[in-house]
Amino acid sequence: MASVTSLSDSVHQRLAAALSAALPQAGSADPLLRRSDRADFQANGILALAKKEKANPRELATQVVAGVEAGEVIKDVEVSGPGFLNVTVTDRAITENLAARYADDTGRLGVPSAKNPGTTVIDYAQPNVAKEMHVGHLRSAVIGDSVVRLLEFTGESVVRRHHIGDWGTQFGMLIQYLEEHPHELDHKSSEVSGEEAMSNLDRLYKAARKVFDSDEEFKTRARRRVVDLQAGDPQTLAMWQKFVDESKIYFFSVFDKLDMEIRDEDIVGESGYNDMLAETCRLLEESGVAVRSEGALCVFFDDIKGPDGKPVPLIVQKSDGGYGYAATDLSAIRDRVFTIKANTLLYVVDARQSLHFKMVFETARRAGWLNGDVEAVQLAFGTVLGKDGKPFKTREGETVRLVDLLDEAIDRASAVVREKAQDLSEEEIAERGTQVGIGAVKYADLSTSASRDYKFDLDQMVSLNGDTSVYLQYAYARIQSILRKAGESRPAARPELDLHAAERALGLHVDAFAATVAEAAAEYAPHKLTAYLYQLASLFTAFYDKCPVLKAESPEQIENRLFLCDVTARTLHQGMALLGIRTPERL
Ligand code: ARG
Repeated sequence: MASVTSLSDSVHQRLAAALSAALPQAGSADPLLRRSDRADFQANGILALAKKEKANPRELATQVVAGVEAGEVIKDVEVSGPGFLNVTVTDRAITENLAARYADDTGRLGVPSAKNPGTTVIDYAQPNVAKEMHVGHLRSAVIGDSVVRLLEFTGESVVRRHHIGDWGTQFGMLIQYLEEHPHELDHKSSEVSGEEAMSNLDRLYKAARKVFDSDEEFKTRARRRVVDLQAGDPQTLAMWQKFVDESKIYFFSVFDKLDMEIRDEDIVGESGYNDMLAETCRLLEESGVAVRSEGALCVFFDDIKGPDGKPVPLIVQKSDGGYGYAATDLSAIRDRVFTIKANTLLYVVDARQSLHFKMVFETARRAGWLNGDVEAVQLAFGTVLGKDGKPFKTREGETVRLVDLLDEAIDRASAVVREKAQDLSEEEIAERGTQVGIGAVKYADLSTSASRDYKFDLDQMVSLNGDTSVYLQYAYARIQSILRKAGESRPAARPELDLHAAERALGLHVDAFAATVAEAAAEYAPHKLTAYLYQLASLFTAFYDKCPVLKAESPEQIENRLFLCDVTARTLHQGMALLGIRTPERL
């Protein structure tokens, strides 16, 4: 794999070396290099360092400048202000750097992989069996999918876990109803669509609920079913499995619509930890981490109190012997730490469950399951709001069905594509409309930092102007169209050519791709990548405005500009792929 040293890294190394030479007592000091509007890069680290070492900052800066050799990479270094350094790199270095990225035939644009990757278990895309998926499940799936891609791209080994809600007392009612109406789910899974599967489940749920609420004897039978289910009665389990299978038909149809790969073997729902629950409780009780309180097994925390001032415990086992959400999550931690041997446990879950995870993680720490070697993090996401700024609901006040929302996004996007389409067939419009619509939904979700709430506004999402995926997809398609029109001329790097300011700005930004990806992955922050890509497309637009490509001055300049176009397109493509968004060749 050809990994390319970025320009900012080579400038950084040169400055750091000159800095250590000028100030040996500081050891290896960080010059704190950033991209800057005044020069190509600015180093801001000297001020703080001079203060710490009681040196004069301007003098130190001047000494560093004297120690940096101008040459292949650095064209010029200047002291500015009280002790900043402004660094300009050569045009040649920019072009050669991009050429090395372009030559990386793995498609990674020279982005290096981690030397000592760890194992991350990521818990995301976790809908609930026999229930409709809603916008919260959308966020977990979209953010989780992008984080998986980012981490894998950096070389991390990633284990996906879809912790679906497939266990609990509600199944007693459903199973009992099915037992008494045996033909309700009597079909082969290949015979029903996702929509039909969900409507079957919905119908069953409503019917079961009705009997459950009105018929005391049914209620008793349903409760007995829960006991049978937990005891592993084969016939009961077989019926439970029918609900799981029917739900999976529906889940897969939604994930498919979302253009997202979810693998059956990664679906390990709450039921998957059933055999561990008793042991988890035993370990917690024996170690004294959990105590019996009014019959229930509880863990208490000093800092977690209810409105009445009384401590709120994490209930691991209820007084009737039943196990809940916490017992399952604690067992899942044991599995992920001791069997999968993860270094990091990441949970992409709604911020409204933060207290639960805080208590679960703290319990696992007290039990010694989480320690300095294993870190558990909740990547907590905010609520999806309607245009009115209130939690997203239909006009009738019901939660919005995810499928309806996606279909609407696809419709709107198809209208946008149709309006702009010049030479696209109906079939192509439908295909692009889907890619643009789903991309728009994902991008809107990913481009705000996960912890924040965001407004679901389809008009804004499919807008061609502004920070949207459509804007990025059009930039990509525009470049492809330029490359198609180039005829005989091929993209080729011409390091001997001087660059226009807009070319330099674009080139320096392309060079920052590796650093951006590393940061977005390390911080689980896809929004840093969206911001980067949006700027990339904007810089491309500025370049294209100022620098004619196919009508450039010389054949060499045409080639070099085509090359700049192509390396930009590849960066856009790779970046969007890390977000799970397609970049159609034509729009
Ligand atoms: N199924 C849950 C829900 O819909 C999310 C599960 C989150 N993951 C976990 N390990 N608890 O809210």
